[in-house]
Amino acid sequence: MLKGRSLIEPGNFTLEEMDSLFVLAEKIETEERYLRESCKGKLLATLFFEPSTRTRLSFEAAMLRLGGSCLGFADPGSSSAAKGESLADTVRMAASYADAIVMRNPKEGAALLASRYSPVPVINAGDGGHHHPTQTLTDLLTIRRLRGEIKDFTIGFCGDLKFGRTVHSLAKALARHENIKMIFISPKELVIPDYIKHHLKSHNIEFTETRSFEEAMPTLDVLYMTRVQKERFFNEEDYIRLKDTFVLNKERMLYSKGTLIILHPLPRVNEISVEVDRDPRAAYFKQAKYGMYVRMALLASLLGVENA
Ligand code: NCD
Repeated sequence: MLKGRSLIEPGNFTLEEMDSLFVLAEKIETEERYLRESCKGKLLATLFFEPSTRTRLSFEAAMLRLGGSCLGFADPGSSSAAKGESLADTVRMAASYADAIVMRNPKEGAALLASRYSPVPVINAGDGGHHHPTQTLTDLLTIRRLRGEIKDFTIGFCGDLKFGRTVHSLAKALARHENIKMIFISPKELVIPDYIKHHLKSHNIEFTETRSFEEAMPTLDVLYMTRVQKERFFNEEDYIRLKDTFVLNKERMLYSKGTLIILHPLPRVNEISVEVDRDPRAAYFKQAKYGMYVRMALLASLLGVENA
């Protein structure tokens, strides 16, 4: 059903298609040998024009665990893009070697453009401050695993809501689920973009914006922390002034529910104190692990081997 398709933003898949990925990811997690040879002989190209640790490694781990192989670059300086090659040509070339392409690029819309030139599935691993759909699959799977279902909760998004692509993708994706309320916590310079607010309004999602962590904390079931996106700032002074506006520490946790789930796409810089890592409500390292399982489910489905 997903065979041959690309994933550029979460809206490309229906809720049923996402659900089938979550069911598959859970099966892969619990059954050690399930689909482990399904991608034998298949190649995944990882084209990373921007730094990444988790996303690239989790895609590589996912493909290797399915029995497939990976090729690609993690530094655009070492690719022909440095010689002036167009994205369209790089993608056409990669598609002639590989069965699927994962791409991260600093330009918004780059993955969509790539998918138009590629005869094989393209997975957007982040296009500038725009979207990051596989992080959203990771976040939704984590919520589903820890809460049992993806509905009836209040989520707080905190940090850099302007440039944070994981926030944009997750907020849009959650707008399709039942009874979700959102609170956006950020400095005024880093508020959630208008296009996301319009999207939420058109889906009748209740949301508020605040500068006060303390005010939001007691009402939250899920807290989605993000780092201030240094690389998207035009000036260093603004970054330095804003980077530590919201830091989650033990004291701030006192305001929260005992059942709170704390998520973070990682990498963390300073916005969650390490003392919070020991709190059972901290779910961000579990979340990273779920990311690998859901990417395994995604790769197997796009390559059409999920029933192998
Ligand atoms: C995120 C990203 O790249 O947008 N990282 C990730 O993929 N896990 C978040 C970030 O870089 O802050």
